[in-house]
Amino acid sequence: MRPTTQTHAAPPTATATATATPTATTAAAPTSARAAGTWRLGDLTVNRLGFGAMRLTGTEPFGDGVPRDRERSIGVLRRAVELGVNHIDTASFYFSATRSANELINRALAPYPEDLVITTKVWPGRDASGDWWWASPAQLRGQVEENLRGLGRDHLDVVNLRVPPRLRDGSIAEHVGALAELRDAGLIRHLGVSNVTAAQVAQARAVAPLVCVQNPYGIGAAQESRDLLRLCGELGLAFVPFFAIAGAGREAGPVGGEHPEVSEVAEAHGVSPAQVRLAWTLAQGPHVLAIPGTGDPDHLAQNMAAGALSLTPAELARLDAVRPADMRR
Ligand SMILES: NC(=O)c1ccc[n+]([C@@H]2O[C@H](COP(=O)([O-])OP(=O)(O)OC[C@H]3O[C@@H](n4cnc5c(N)ncnc54)[C@H](OP(=O)(O)O)[C@@H]3O)[C@@H](O)[C@H]2O)c1
Repeated sequence: MRPTTQTHAAPPTATATATATPTATTAAAPTSARAAGTWRLGDLTVNRLGFGAMRLTGTEPFGDGVPRDRERSIGVLRRAVELGVNHIDTASFYFSATRSANELINRALAPYPEDLVITTKVWPGRDASGDWWWASPAQLRGQVEENLRGLGRDHLDVVNLRVPPRLRDGSIAEHVGALAELRDAGLIRHLGVSNVTAAQVAQARAVAPLVCVQNPYGIGAAQESRDLLRLCGELGLAFVPFFAIAGAGREAGPVGGEHPEVSEVAEAHGVSPAQVRLAWTLAQGPHVLAIPGTGDPDHLAQNMAAGALSLTPAELARLDAVRPADMRR
């Protein structure tokens, strides 16, 4: 992402109006997550606009920063569901000193709505001190069970095998096989993969059926990432990007300025750059699901409103042309 002096626009008002072109529509908050349509993860139907839980536990992920206020995070989760979210992404390693994403989800939403799909991820783990470790195939069962305990469920809807960056060229087949056994045992309903190459998607699919691929993706994505997104559509797999708002800021969030193209499209619609980023994400294909992460109720409302924000073909082409961004794995 190119640093500029521009910062994110002020949040839109509830009655923001389109000023750009006659064919553009503008988001008005609060809007239901249903506005962006649905996709099927196996036999589970989800609204394409979902929610990522990584930002609920602290001002920074993974125990850095300051723990978020518990009631505020619980309120964000409940409001997300009220606004139509029925796809939540989480992990048992999303915890700060005093907050756990899975515990917050459990506290906020159990007994869970019947249509709620909770997706989690395994392979990385964090011990009680917060130090990272990586599971062997045999240790994946313990990670799945840790998620079951935290969420208070007897099975997990979707589990992504989150591949370590060092394995970019390596085989993931053994780990996929171990997860497939847990699926066969009834602990998991559907499998996905995360932080993968096209070759690793093929490896995994040779072992077990997948329903989704979760990779970093956003405005300015590299050609390899664009190709993988398209491949997922051809294979009928959901492509679930993370860092759609954060971009090159990654874990740090949307810092360091915004592309002028994004800022200008946002200004034309009277919305925020984050909303433009989400609308662009959802325009990448019917199989693309957004999981914006926030611990801020106002940002949540904005993000849900982005599901109804329609960008013109000219705006989409302009944003498509932005590159490159540093979206390395
Ligand atoms: N598979 C993987 O390896 C992987 C890696 C990373 C993330 N994920 C998943 O993907 C989800 C999304 O990724 P992410 O949360 O890292 O990034 P993101 O959704 O792209 O952006 C989140 C960041 O943007 C801020 N933000 C959110 N909405 C905003 C708005 N309307 N205006 C301004 N700022 C806004 C958030 O801060 P505030 O909290 O202050 O709003 C946070 O700093 C995560 O929550 C997690 O579930 C998966």
